Order: sequence, then C-alpha cells, then structure tokens
Amino acid sequence: MRIGTPQSKNATRVMLLGSGELGKEVIISLQRLGVEVIAVDRYENAPGHQVAHRAHVIDMTDADALRSLILAEQPDIIVPEIEAIATAMLIEIEEQGIAKVIPNARAVNLTMNREGIRRLAGEKLGLPTSTYEFANSLEELEAAASRIGYPLLVKPVMSSSGKGQSFVRDRSGLDEAWEYAASGGRVDQGRVIVEGFIDFDYEITQLTVRALGSSGEIETHFCEPVGHVQVKGDYVESWQPMRMSSSALARAREIARAVTEDLGGTGVFGVELFVKGDEVWFSEVSPRPHDTGLVTLATQRQSEFELHARALLGLPVDTSMREPGASAVIYGGLEAKGIAFEGLEEALAVPGSDLRLFGKPESFARRRMGVALAVAESSEEARIRAKQAAALVRPVISG
Ligand SMILES: Nc1ncnc2c1ncn2[C@@H]1O[C@H](COP(=O)(O)OP(=O)(O)OP(=O)(O)O)[C@@H](O)[C@H]1O
Ligand SMILES: [Mg+2]
Repeated sequence: MRIGTPQSKNATRVMLLGSGELGKEVIISLQRLGVEVIAVDRYENAPGHQVAHRAHVIDMTDADALRSLILAEQPDIIVPEIEAIATAMLIEIEEQGIAKVIPNARAVNLTMNREGIRRLAGEKLGLPTSTYEFANSLEELEAAASRIGYPLLVKPVMSSSGKGQSFVRDRSGLDEAWEYAASGGRVDQGRVIVEGFIDFDYEITQLTVRALGSSGEIETHFCEPVGHVQVKGDYVESWQPMRMSSSALARAREIARAVTEDLGGTGVFGVELFVKGDEVWFSEVSPRPHDTGLVTLATQRQSEFELHARALLGLPVDTSMREPGASAVIYGGLEAKGIAFEGLEEALAVPGSDLRLFGKPESFARRRMGVALAVAESSEEARIRAKQAAALVRPVISG
C-alpha cells in the first residue's frame, strides 16, 4: 500500500458517491492521510463538497451520468455514502477493473434494497429477523398483513431514514400505509416489505469493521455497541457504550459477523439489531458508517469515519473506545436557505461537549443540520449533556 501526492500524477484518488455529513467526515479523514478526494452529490455545496479537492453535482441514479464521471475522474476507489445510486452500474465498473468499490459492488447493490439484504439474512444465513413478506399491490398487502398479524410495519423496499414507512395497528390503516409507501419510496415505487412488529427492549448499532490485518488477511473488528433512539425512523440520539448482557452482546456480534462476512470487502458496516432480554434480531445493515455512529467522533480513538478511511485504504484499524459519550441531533427547525446558528457559546460551555455543524445550504424543519456530542463518566450522563448542548443551539433566519 502506498499513498501518492494529491493533485499530482501519482495521487491516490477516492470518489465519494454522496457527500452528506457522514461523507464529509470520511473525506476529512482521507484528507488527513494525503488522499485526493472527489465529492459527488445531487445538490451544490453539499457538506462533503466543502472539504474535497473537487466537487461534482450529478444525479447518481443516472447510470450513464455516473459512468461518465467515473471515467473522467479515474478514481482508484469509489465509496458509496448513500443508497440511491445506480448500483448495478458499479458492478460493471468493478468487473471491468476500472475502480475498486467499497466494500464491494455486490454488497452495495444488495443493501440498497430491503429485499436483497432481508433475503440474505433471513433465508440464506438463517438469522433471526422480524417475520416479513413482500407485496406489490394493496390486495397483496392485505393478504400479507393478515398472515403476519398486527401491529406491523409497512416500508417501501427502497427508502431510508424512515421515509414512506408506517406503523399499522389494524386493517383500517393499510390503505394509508400503501399510499404513503408509494409516495415515500425511491425508484421501484410499487413494492413494499411488511414486517411483524418486534416489541424490543432496546436497539443497537453494532459497528463492525473489516480491515486488512498484519497477516494480509481481512479481519473483523467490533466497536462497543451504540444505543439509540429513533423517532419516525430517524435517529435523534445515540450513545456508546450501550450497557447490555454479555450473552446479548455475544449474539449481536455473531449476527454482525455472519452478515458482514457474507457481504465481504473492507470498510465499516453499521449492523442494526433489536434486543429483548438475551434475544437478538437482525434488522438491517449499512455497508458504510452509520448515522448513529456520529457519537464515535467523541468516544473512540478512531471514529467510525477514520476507521472507514483506513479500512478502505487497506490500512490497520483500532476500534478501542476512549470514554463513554453521546450524540444528539440538531434539527433545522425552520425552512430557509442560508440560515445561521446562535447559542454556540452556551452549548460549548456544557462540560465535555462538542459540536458539528454540517454546513447544509438549506434548512428544513426536520433536516439534520448538526449534532451535539458529549463525553462523561457514563453514557447516561453523556446523554444528558449532549441533549442539553443540542437544545442550546438555535437555528435562526440570517439577515
Ligand atoms: N419490525 C420492526 N419492529 C419494531 N420496530 C421496527 C421494526 N422495523 C423498524 N422498526 C423501527 O423503525 C426504525 C427504522 O426502521 P428501518 O431501520 O428499517 O428504516 P430506515 O428507513 O432504513 O431507517 P434508517 O435509514 O434511519 O436506518 C428502526 O430503527 C426501529 O426503531
Ligand atoms: Mg435503519
């Protein structure tokens, strides 16, 4: 492994597909290692655009546009940061040896669709998941729902951050859930997954890193479990470590290892799991850093973003924790372009606190615009501090 000089002929070039707040942190980590970074997103001035060597705006679901850009930029490594990408084309790029895809094109393609990853985990690997069926029409949905039983969840097969997702208590909620899924999904609008509701005690993200070890073999490393709270399918708060029984943790890691070994390649994976007592269910997996893992910016020696940067370059990783901590999301609260933030003095006066403001050009009420981080002697104390710091940051219309 060698890293060249950025902006020169021997540069090591990495292209990020998706350059949001998670991509921005991966880019900063790559920049620190002297990598030349090309940031791609579907809108101008995305967070990652602001810290990359070059920035491009294209529709990444357009296979031709994406292929042309890859051929023009000639990256050594392509790092998908979002799901909404023409992933089938990435399989060609990988097969033709044009660039390496992280963790690999098959994993990226399988996980962009709930059906691919659910069939892999539930049917091929036989891992515990919620009961599920797929439906292509309201009639099929009604039939599937009566077999699965209520309450249940209806989700478009292609969507993220809770978009198009409904919790359905009884039969009367199915019409609305079907309509909502059709409006909230991506691309393939007519297909949903129906999932039996799991009444879990808590949910975690098991950040799992596949990286080259000194032996030259890929090794699996686990971070301490991240606990989190989701509201309408979107994360609002996370902390590390999540206190859990040693048998539940062992089971969670067994599941995480099985899924990530099948997906293969190198990089960080966010394995989402539900836990009740010592019972653990697989929910889904991101083949990239996870939003709930923003907490690792405060808690670990190497954040999930640094871990991803190292792993994708073929370098060794260290997943150890430094101290307990938490993250709390800062929402836009208002709908406007070019907003400003006040209250930062008060927020950063909270002991152990830190902030990330993502620099997004436009604010929406429920758009994630920043995150407050905090460390403390315990995760519980850190959660209080992070929420306190987040609440002190005030998005305002800027004159
Ligand atoms: N079968 C289920 N039983 C109970 N709760 C569920 C179930 N499926 C989803 N949830 C809840 O909804 C949240 C979001 O679901 P899921 O992760 O499938 O959606 P998503 O759109 O992919 O969200 P994200 O992109 O933020 O991970 C979960 O973290 C969990 O809190
Ligand atoms: Mg999820």
